[in-house]
Amino acid sequence: MKETVAIAHPNFALVKYWGKKDSKQNRPAMSSISVTVNSMISKTKIFKNSQSNHHQLFINGVEESDLSNILPPLMYLSEFSKSEDYLVIQSQNNFPTSSGLASSASGIASLVTAYEAHYDLQLEVNQKIEACILGSGSAPRSLIGGFVLMDYKNNYSCRQILEETEWPLDVLICIVSKEPKKISSREGMLISKKTSPIYQNWLDVNDRHINIALNAIKEKNFARLKNVTEKNCKLMHEVMKTSKPSISYLTEVTHSCLSEIENLRSLGHKLFYTIDAGPQVKIICEPQSSETIKNRIIDATDVIEIIHAGIGGSPKVLNEN
Ligand code: DP6
Repeated sequence: MKETVAIAHPNFALVKYWGKKDSKQNRPAMSSISVTVNSMISKTKIFKNSQSNHHQLFINGVEESDLSNILPPLMYLSEFSKSEDYLVIQSQNNFPTSSGLASSASGIASLVTAYEAHYDLQLEVNQKIEACILGSGSAPRSLIGGFVLMDYKNNYSCRQILEETEWPLDVLICIVSKEPKKISSREGMLISKKTSPIYQNWLDVNDRHINIALNAIKEKNFARLKNVTEKNCKLMHEVMKTSKPSISYLTEVTHSCLSEIENLRSLGHKLFYTIDAGPQVKIICEPQSSETIKNRIIDATDVIEIIHAGIGGSPKVLNEN
């Protein structure tokens, strides 16, 4: 039986989106810029389901009853494959799932990549982007390695700003908790859009943050990228906090990581952070500081573990038979 396996990496947004333009099509309400990381991997195998007449999804070996994130992309892709097959989809993450580590982005990007190869579709880039967005708004960015811009004004086109090898920074992912998040991003975004008094300000600032980050990345200007990334992250968490009900993904351990980041800066290390819809802290730093930063954070905080990554590449098909 034909099986196809593909891998994709998560991406972390430096300029984030938080809010959907259109909930039905799952389209973000603003542009975003991300960095794809290398040592975290979603690996997805697909094959025809000969046992049952519905799709089955297994994440890390456990069958999922909620298929709402994968059915829209599968339905869209079946228009190209003309296939009525039901599939078995087996996805493995080598990192905690659904806890603010972008597992949905890499999971969906690996599924779309595997599907395209399985049915030999030769899709256009914009068709892959569309399939990904239907699964997760941040997933199209995982179709590309390095630093990536997803441009809201240009029909969510995704373009690489720098290749993964052009600016070799490290990304240290501080795992603060392995618990799945209590409020999904999708739900949280809806609440913020409806209720945060600063949501409009958040939308208005997007263009400026995108331009600053875009130029900082092109010029490899660490200080400017640090400033805009942290400002953007703080504002997004302020939008969450001012929502009703107030949303907070941060814990005491998250805050103790942020204090240590300040201490490390005062010692002369170059690093900055970002935090998504979860308590985990992602540190972007110069590779020569990585070991010191890791040791210091592990010693001084209750972080469970630190994943050490570099900048990652685009998805890959591992086998087709
Ligand atoms: C805070 O794209 O993961 O990480 O479409 O519901 O899967 P779904 O949401 P998702 O939300 C990402 C939110 C964010 C910011 C970002 O990655 O830009």
